[in-house]
Amino acid sequence: MLVILDFGSQYSELIARRIRETQVYSEVLSYRTTVSQIKQLNPQGIILSGGPNSVYDANAPQCDPGIWDLEIPILGVCYGMQLMVQQLGGIVERADRGEYGKASLLIDDPTDLLTNVEDGATMWMSHADSVKQLPEGFEVLAHTENTPCAAIAHHEKQLYGVQFHPEVVHSIGGQALIRNFVYHICECEPTWTMAAFVEQATREIRAKVGDKRVLLALSGGVDSSTLAFLLHKAIGDQLTCMFIDQGFMRKNEPERLVKLFQEQFHIPVVHVKARDRFLVKIAGITDPEEKRKRIGHEFIRVFEEESKRLGPFDYLAQGTLYPDVIESADTNVDPKTGERVAVKIKSHHNVGGLPKDLRFKLIEPLRKLFKDEVRKVGKSIGLPEEIINRHPFPGPGLAIRILGEVTEERLEILRDADHIVRQEINRQGMYSKFWQAFAVLLPIRSVGVMGDQRTYAYPIVLRFVSSEDGMTADWSRVPYDFLETISNRIVNEVPGVNRVVYDITSKPPGTIEWE
Ligand code: XMP
Repeated sequence: MLVILDFGSQYSELIARRIRETQVYSEVLSYRTTVSQIKQLNPQGIILSGGPNSVYDANAPQCDPGIWDLEIPILGVCYGMQLMVQQLGGIVERADRGEYGKASLLIDDPTDLLTNVEDGATMWMSHADSVKQLPEGFEVLAHTENTPCAAIAHHEKQLYGVQFHPEVVHSIGGQALIRNFVYHICECEPTWTMAAFVEQATREIRAKVGDKRVLLALSGGVDSSTLAFLLHKAIGDQLTCMFIDQGFMRKNEPERLVKLFQEQFHIPVVHVKARDRFLVKIAGITDPEEKRKRIGHEFIRVFEEESKRLGPFDYLAQGTLYPDVIESADTNVDPKTGERVAVKIKSHHNVGGLPKDLRFKLIEPLRKLFKDEVRKVGKSIGLPEEIINRHPFPGPGLAIRILGEVTEERLEILRDADHIVRQEINRQGMYSKFWQAFAVLLPIRSVGVMGDQRTYAYPIVLRFVSSEDGMTADWSRVPYDFLETISNRIVNEVPGVNRVVYDITSKPPGTIEWE
């Protein structure tokens, strides 16, 4: 395995992902991690990330200088390289000219770290400081027009530094460099496969749970579905999967999900049919936040009632992923037991947010995985494509895609319109082209004409977006004919709708969802 010491770079997580892509396990740790803690992990190499500071700042984050004597390969990236230079006796100073964006890498030594990286390759730079003098024993492997020391090495000690960011996609040859470091310099074997993960996770779950009982709230997304499968494989009927149907899922989804689990995977699911309770709770409510809040509260109530009825349970399984772990390092830990506990759940959490004072112990078997790794695990255990590549779906579901008051009639209309959208997208093979593609119902009515009759009905908004992570998004440019087909079908097949419009707002300033 490789350790990444994080100095606050926005790319630390990306470095970990790039290494995992070479099928080698990597973990992001705080720069404060001591040498003895690192030794316990027995890594085959260390990567020092970039960071926002200058190494000569008064409070610049420093790593334990003991790492230089560990006799394992170390690669410093950007700030990490500058720190290596400074701690080993070289000089880093503010550059005459900073370098931001693309730069051509001019290679002086094409061996070792830079094997298979093309001379002149584009690399992504983002630095105001530069190495002015190398420490003893180091040499330059590559430079750029503005940066004399763009890649450096102390061959004997296997210490390497790069001023650019090989981990970002704009760095052509960046992954080749990472592979050189991982395979040739650190001599790692590609053992991090999803099959190995499943085996190890199963063992760990059994050891942790023993003969205790575990509760899992299934949402139908890839995380909770994969989790259900893993846990069931490990502990069989000590697991209880609970699926709360609040009535705001897409057409036929609850039934399909429950059927899939029971019939295909032979995993029993407690199907809690709570539609009426939720609809009553938000009757007459038009404010989006109030709606979300009420749905969240009701979810908690149902969850508590049902877990009491089905319990007692010792553990709550949660689909926490690695990015959440990195972000919340050291938080949410019970000081007495050292166990992670459910004290803070994001309001965007898929199961709708669980109570703050729930004192279940948590079991989080996916906490070492990135989302794409969860998908791979899901695939390897036979989850169907429709779950593995399912678009994100908000916890409050269709209730926040019906603006204003949610009624049974409006839900019916939106479900049918949304179903047509999905059918047409699948028919065109376009599902994977979108981050999300869905219908929204507006609570206003407009005049239309159908078969010589005046109509006065709801409009449906089509919201199709592309995005990397949901934080920003762009509206999707789709063929007019495709939009026309969807529009015709919705207006003709869904009573209560006489107009379809296309949302051409990106995020920001819009959000993806309309509420
Ligand atoms: P917005 O609308 O804020 O949404 O641009 C960003 C992403 O988050 C999803 N979303 C939610 N996901 N529970 C969730 O699990 C929620 O309450 C929730 N609200 C929004 C949204 O679908 C988009 O992918």
